[in-house]
Amino acid sequence: MTTAHHPAAGFAAGAVGAATGECGTTVWLTGLPSAGKTTVARAVAERLRGTGRRVEVLDGDEIREFLSAGLGFGREDRHTNVQRIGFVAELLARNGVVALVPVIAPYADSRDAVRKRHETHGTAYVEVHVATPVEVCSVRDVKGLYAKQAAGEISGLTGVDDPYEVPENPELRIRTQGRSVADTAAELHTFLSERGLA
Ligand SMILES: Nc1ncnc2c1ncn2[C@@H]1O[C@H](COP(=O)(O)OP(=O)(O)OP(=O)(O)O)[C@@H](O)[C@H]1O
Ligand SMILES: [Mg+2]
Repeated sequence: MTTAHHPAAGFAAGAVGAATGECGTTVWLTGLPSAGKTTVARAVAERLRGTGRRVEVLDGDEIREFLSAGLGFGREDRHTNVQRIGFVAELLARNGVVALVPVIAPYADSRDAVRKRHETHGTAYVEVHVATPVEVCSVRDVKGLYAKQAAGEISGLTGVDDPYEVPENPELRIRTQGRSVADTAAELHTFLSERGLA
């Protein structure tokens, strides 16, 4: 956990909160396929809704069906996908919504550009590395992608034969292996609450 390097998150949240009475925030969950990004985002969304917060989940798979339809999985298209999602998340967060974004976002420069966009607008931004190791992800293999890659049916799988640049300074790094979804979600919820972001 390295909040010290990103003081803007808490500071900006205060500023937005003062203006609207309810601060929004983008919470970007980055990590490998099957790491648990979607699962944790949905669990935290449910918890936040339960407290009356306005919440949206911008899931990578859903976004690719519409907003990013036609984009592929090469470096440039992945970057474009992340920038589009970052644009929408920032708009939501600026207007008091907690935008949870479970999207792989494998490239550090793409993630940093999204962070900068938020800083420019004084909008709170939290990067969460869902740090499940590839050995665990490949056993979970929720979508069967690791098996397909191993069988030679697909290529370009993030963390296997496509890059994943591990975040160096995320606001929070969470472990999922060997613990329940509820426990992991509670950790993130507590993190956000303690900083006045949820
Ligand atoms: N503590 C935990 N937190 C989150 N998920 C967990 C945990 N323990 C086990 N899991 C399981 O791991 C799987 C994670 O799948 P999920 O679809 O959330 O991954 P993802 O990171 O969104 O992958 P993708 O990038 O392919 O969308 C689920 O089956 C979930 O139940
Ligand atoms: Mg997912």
